[in-house]
Amino acid sequence: MAFRGAPITIGMLFSQTGVTAVLESSQRKAAMLAVSQINASGGLLERELVLLDSDPASNPARFKTEAERLLDEGAEALFGCYMSSTRKAVLPVVEARGSLLFYPTLYEGFEYMPSCIYSGAAPNQNARMLADYLTEMYGTCYFFVGSNYVFPYESNRIMRDLLSNRGATVTDEVYISLDPSEDEIAHVIKMVRSAGPVVVFSTLVGDGAVRFYKAYDEAGFDRTAQPIASLTFGEPEIQALGSGSATGHIKAAPYFSIIDTPANRAFVAAYREAFGPDCAICAEAEAAYFQVKLFAEAVRRSGKTDRMSIIRTLPTFSLEAPQGSVRVDGSTHHTHLWSRVAVVGENGAFQIMRESARPVAPDPYLVALENSLDDLVADANLGCFF
Ligand code: ACM
Repeated sequence: MAFRGAPITIGMLFSQTGVTAVLESSQRKAAMLAVSQINASGGLLERELVLLDSDPASNPARFKTEAERLLDEGAEALFGCYMSSTRKAVLPVVEARGSLLFYPTLYEGFEYMPSCIYSGAAPNQNARMLADYLTEMYGTCYFFVGSNYVFPYESNRIMRDLLSNRGATVTDEVYISLDPSEDEIAHVIKMVRSAGPVVVFSTLVGDGAVRFYKAYDEAGFDRTAQPIASLTFGEPEIQALGSGSATGHIKAAPYFSIIDTPANRAFVAAYREAFGPDCAICAEAEAAYFQVKLFAEAVRRSGKTDRMSIIRTLPTFSLEAPQGSVRVDGSTHHTHLWSRVAVVGENGAFQIMRESARPVAPDPYLVALENSLDDLVADANLGCFF
């Protein structure tokens, strides 16, 4: 491919080592796929798109120094971060340098940084549908377990509200290390057992999550009545766990690899051709893929690579992503995304049980989440009739 002019350089912040390497490696591959597709179709503004790589090792301090290095080496924008602790370490650097971070991971919401484009789900796009589904299908008793950092604390605060608004109770809320010992895991399994018939809501991430789900399987809980529900435990973690051990567990996310649309079939085929037929593809990888395409489309449309041109252009178009149509919201920098809830079937693959009819607008501060004006109007109308 003949390119003209200097390359356009972007930086990747995805861990290839450390506790969340399994998940972040799938995001890194997806971003690499997007870049290779863009270059194969002529590049950006006839310039080659070049990726600078890193391995921040699932460590917030390393994320910060790698972000500084990538920007020093000429990256126009950064793409990456999984744990919210790593995003929070990177954003001050990106803001101070006048650059942009495209963040492809579900998170706890309640944040707006001008220098961040959030392409993963905010709580109104995943936790709300999950709370509806759980309370309709599994009853009213819940046990929370999370990794010991900001996303689980904040996510649990929101999920507790959502569940209690639906008449459910949370019997316990416990946190274990990001890299938990066998004793920590065994202790929580014992607590779940003595809590009685509860559904577990897990905000565990990375290797610790895989080891907890393994222990849960070995403990013999009936997963048709007592599944683990989460926003995080997806296809790569199921593959690491072993598919037979995950049947019955639940995830809410904008994307599942079994979505049957031409755009998703093309994405899955290209990903597997590039990285192998057994690759597990998850929502966080899909966001890592389409956010590079969003950046590229904004550069094409504006003819520029500077932060303000990209920020101004992103909300002006929709993109056909593997999950369906997506669009960045100009006032929050979050993305209109699909809401879906899926359960792991006997074959280890997710089956989608519920999905939104259209993309759900981001509401990162949960302004309209519960007791919305619509609910109040409905109550008032009922009052009139009686
Ligand atoms: C996360 O920490 N946002 C999964």
